[in-house]
Amino acid sequence: NPDNPLLNPVLTAIFQQAALKVVNGDEDLLPDAMVKNCSNAKHGDYQCQSAMPMFAAMKKSGNMPATIKSPKDVAQAIIDHLDPTHLAVIENISIQGPGFIVCSITKSYLQSHLIKWLASGVLPKPPIPQTFECVVDFSSPNIAKEMHVGHLRSTIIGEAVCRVLEFVGHHVHRTNHVGDWGTQFGMLIQYLKEEYPEVGQEADGGELPNITDLTVFYKNAKQRFDESAEFKKTAQTNVVALQSGDKECLKIWKMLCDVSRKEFQKVYNRLDVTLEEKGESFYNDKIPAVIQEFDQAGLVKIEEGGAKCVFVTGHSIPLMLQKSDGGYGYDSTDMAALKYRLQTLKAQRIIVITDFSQGGHFEMCYGAADEIGWLTSGQRLDHIGFGTVMGEDGKRFKTRSGDTVRLVDLLDEAVKRMEDSLRQRITDGKANITEAEVHEVAEAIGYGAVKYFDLRRNPTTNYKFSYDQMLDTKGNTAVYLLYARVRLESICAKAKADHGVDVEELLKAGEVPVLEHPSERNLAKELHLFAEVLETTLDDLFPYHICEYVYNVSIAASDFVTQCKVLGVPEMKSRLLLCHATMVAMRQCFDLLGIRHVKRI
Ligand code: ARG
Repeated sequence: NPDNPLLNPVLTAIFQQAALKVVNGDEDLLPDAMVKNCSNAKHGDYQCQSAMPMFAAMKKSGNMPATIKSPKDVAQAIIDHLDPTHLAVIENISIQGPGFIVCSITKSYLQSHLIKWLASGVLPKPPIPQTFECVVDFSSPNIAKEMHVGHLRSTIIGEAVCRVLEFVGHHVHRTNHVGDWGTQFGMLIQYLKEEYPEVGQEADGGELPNITDLTVFYKNAKQRFDESAEFKKTAQTNVVALQSGDKECLKIWKMLCDVSRKEFQKVYNRLDVTLEEKGESFYNDKIPAVIQEFDQAGLVKIEEGGAKCVFVTGHSIPLMLQKSDGGYGYDSTDMAALKYRLQTLKAQRIIVITDFSQGGHFEMCYGAADEIGWLTSGQRLDHIGFGTVMGEDGKRFKTRSGDTVRLVDLLDEAVKRMEDSLRQRITDGKANITEAEVHEVAEAIGYGAVKYFDLRRNPTTNYKFSYDQMLDTKGNTAVYLLYARVRLESICAKAKADHGVDVEELLKAGEVPVLEHPSERNLAKELHLFAEVLETTLDDLFPYHICEYVYNVSIAASDFVTQCKVLGVPEMKSRLLLCHATMVAMRQCFDLLGIRHVKRI
């Protein structure tokens, strides 16, 4: 199918057809994977490395034609059997090394695809067999506690994952599984009753204390809890009261949640993150049925003290569905959440994003769901376990005074630094923006820089948080990329102002980009990889593939504008269209990564 935006299946089909002829239609003699990208672009775009395994398989089968003496001969035979119509897709076919067939994609093929999506203004998506319901459980901070850098990672990665799933057409429940339930509320409620006696009484709940106070409040409550046996006891009665629906306790609980929520929202607003809160409390009344189900299936084991546990194959510690005191914990809630997501929301794909230390917990939850029979038709359950964010000293991330860093402050600092550097540009006469625009542009770049610094790497790795590195105008940073895109914007603006050529008009008139120069072809090839990159991302859920793509595109674009003059040359129209295509692609990537784009800097 020449319309397929993915090159891999197209090339696989081409080589498979030829290779099958070489082995007289015996599919068993072909390897599973036929083609892959060339690691070194100098050699070509793609390579087929089937000749070696085919030679071995033919030898083993005893079915070796007399003309074939080596893998190289197999490679030559494959080339000889290529269907001539396929030469519209590949060219420069050669054999390298022991029998690698290397080829490049034809200009005309790249051009025809480019023309197609330029007209629509949206890069082609990888085709998906069907759209389905997804749950992405991300951010998920805890009430009455400060959101920390781990939650920041979860929020940034989760938002990008949601955007990718939505872009290809899936429906996503963007779930904020906030920690809004549990025994800690007993002590918080008791402390509030004692310190702010009016709050629980007033009809409207009274004034909300602010979150900085709430973290201090948490610490103080905890201190009293640890020090006073009497307080501890009353706190526990509050837990029971809250769980059985006591009005005053519920009111105070709700108020505590609202205070936290307001603070979390400040972070989400800055990062353009959308979440739907379905916290731990939501599942409380769904837990007994889950325990019963496991009980009836004979999967519950009563441990010493009376706790109800489920042992999952391959794990030495159990999931605890009910504690010995009858209470429910993290495991209980997550099993109820899993059942709800699978059976009520009918989710085909569930993705939970937390730090790596919870990997074992989710493996057990998913294993238990499988053993109880909740998984029926190929649902996929994933956990993205990300690494630790460290300070520049390589130690735990904290402020100079040793406190946990408030995320709002951290984000504001990135913006502040960006404002300073933009003001410097204005002073140096290099800027294309005025003082009035500084804040908005600094926000886009500052937040974008924080996000990209995280997203550009494999989430499983640890990293050191460094403003200097993430705000560097050179290298693989959001700042560099946003500047690179703005440079293309200004070329297009100049074309309009100085040469009277408007890209929008060119598109309307059906002008097409030609790919004569090697830099033009190379840029078109990099652009073409989009659908493939998205497909990889949909599979492993690592947004860094998109970062790599947008970075490679920007490098190819920078090579193109260095090698090929755009303005005032006979090729101007074609080249402006290539600039425009690059801008569209880069913006598409920024959108997927949750990075705001800027038109002028
Ligand atoms: N609140 C938890 C934390 O701060 C994350 C919750 C993740 N989601 C879940 N379903 N357990 O670590």
